[in-house]
Amino acid sequence: MTQPESNQMEKPQLSSFTNTAFLATLVSRSAPETEKIAGELAASLPANCVVALIGDLGAGKTCFARGIIRAKGVPGHIPITSPTFVIVNAYDTENPVFHFDWYRISDSLELDAIGYRDFLEQGGICIVEWPQNAPDAIPKETLFVHIHGLGESRTIDFYTTLPEPALTEIRSVLTQIVSRLLDVTDINQHTPP
Ligand SMILES: Nc1ncnc2c1ncn2[C@@H]1O[C@H](COP(=O)(O)OP(=O)(O)OP(=O)(O)O)[C@@H](O)[C@H]1O
Ligand SMILES: [Mg+2]
Repeated sequence: MTQPESNQMEKPQLSSFTNTAFLATLVSRSAPETEKIAGELAASLPANCVVALIGDLGAGKTCFARGIIRAKGVPGHIPITSPTFVIVNAYDTENPVFHFDWYRISDSLELDAIGYRDFLEQGGICIVEWPQNAPDAIPKETLFVHIHGLGESRTIDFYTTLPEPALTEIRSVLTQIVSRLLDVTDINQHTPP
């Protein structure tokens, strides 16, 4: 009988984070809407933080990352794609943004080899796709964004281990986004007289 590899059994899980506060759930109806939501959220992120993007292949993680990165000042003529093979793309914005894709990473030792800790220490926003591949490299203060769903409709859950005042700031922006999205839903569902 085949046994699971021991390092897989010992791998820490993102769910082992304690003090994780649930922030909000919302539904995005299109890729541009996901980008817009991420862009609106970007202004409320602390200058130094990690945004961990969780979701299956094609869930919309890069789309969400793109929204943050554009909002931080990267213009439309610069393409923003998953750094699947290079592992990290660095954007030279006023507050630096690093976009990681850990899809091909199997543990935090591989991240040490590419100097991930140096990226964390120099400050800025670190966006991480596939954080579950090296959960022990995710710091205690992180915004978790879980994207799931089929078709054009994607449900996005937000959790955080960030302390105050970031917690209240992010919650407030998410509340505004949820109200805006609900307004759109109300208009769509309104039956004309
Ligand atoms: N509501 C939506 N939000 C985000 N993407 C959407 C939505 N509806 C459709 N899409 C499409 O889903 C795809 C999402 O691709 P994206 O590269 O962002 O996924 P990903 O999660 O980064 O995948 P991977 O794990 O391969 O990196 C795009 O083709 C996008 O146009
Ligand atoms: Mg991606």
